[in-house]
Amino acid sequence: MWLPRLACAACGTALPLASAPLRCEQCGTLVMERDGILRCASEARLDRVRPFLAQYRTVRRADGHVVRSAAEYQALPSVSPTAANVDEWRIRQQSLDTLLRAFSTARRSARVLDLGAGNGWLSQRLTARGHAVVAVDLNDDGEDGLGAAAASRVAFCRVQAGFERVPFESGQFDVVVFNASLHYADEPGAVLTESRRLLANGGALVVMDSPIFVQAHDGERMVEEQLAGLRTRFGLSSPISCGRGFLTLAELGQAAGTFGMAATFTRSSGPWLWRLRRAWSGLRLGRQPAMFGVWVAR
Ligand SMILES: C[S@@+](CC[C@H](N)C(=O)[O-])C[C@H]1O[C@@H](n2cnc3c(N)ncnc32)[C@H](O)[C@@H]1O
Repeated sequence: MWLPRLACAACGTALPLASAPLRCEQCGTLVMERDGILRCASEARLDRVRPFLAQYRTVRRADGHVVRSAAEYQALPSVSPTAANVDEWRIRQQSLDTLLRAFSTARRSARVLDLGAGNGWLSQRLTARGHAVVAVDLNDDGEDGLGAAAASRVAFCRVQAGFERVPFESGQFDVVVFNASLHYADEPGAVLTESRRLLANGGALVVMDSPIFVQAHDGERMVEEQLAGLRTRFGLSSPISCGRGFLTLAELGQAAGTFGMAATFTRSSGPWLWRLRRAWSGLRLGRQPAMFGVWVAR
């Protein structure tokens, strides 16, 4: 299992390559391994995210985002026609196909960083195709976070850390991918800059399956609707939001321009009934529905 060169999450100093626990010579920060996950997030960072993760778990469970068996995990993003969120998983499958096509002519084994990996289904898929993958998330939950990847049929490195400050030395990855995760960032532009630092020469940045809008005010409306939904469904008086909740094509394009990269966006439209339902709810709500798909900059 490939492990990139680590840097201290607190001060950025390179950490010696040895087995965990590792101690930063500069600031004394300790990196432990527990349950097969390298623990690089500080207690302070975890304390900040815990209230959100508690709410996130409740909502995700209620929405059926729980992997019930190893077989179910290993098949993702393929699910049975009767599974919860089947249409959503069809979009994810379509986006995965786009991603694989985009890199089909590239080198056989790429070093991939999966940021906001969740249960790591994408890491599993890419590792099984021969790529060297590292999955990073703050959530180590056994049903929906890094812990769930214990059911993976192939092993990949799992690191508990925030994507605002990734605990690796620069220039080590051929692909950095945010899979349905960049919209959880408070400042997506700053997080993209951090991910750019991690790319090797000629590497690619990928943002897939975040809700993307042309106009920011449509995204803001969607976030308001989601928060209202949390209040009604879960009786939460002040639901915790994590990050902006959406992205715009313009801000992604601007980031690519700043990095001197050219970007493309391939939309995943999903099954026709899903498209119809979304178009209808867009009319009802008076806003553009979110777009999903794969944005690649290189
Ligand atoms: C909707 S889930 C997507 C998970 C997975 N990539 C997938 O496609 O199923 C978003 C993930 O982003 C993670 N996340 C949110 N903010 C994060 C941060 N600041 N650093 C690292 N991960 C974060 C969450 O814990 C969650 O697992």
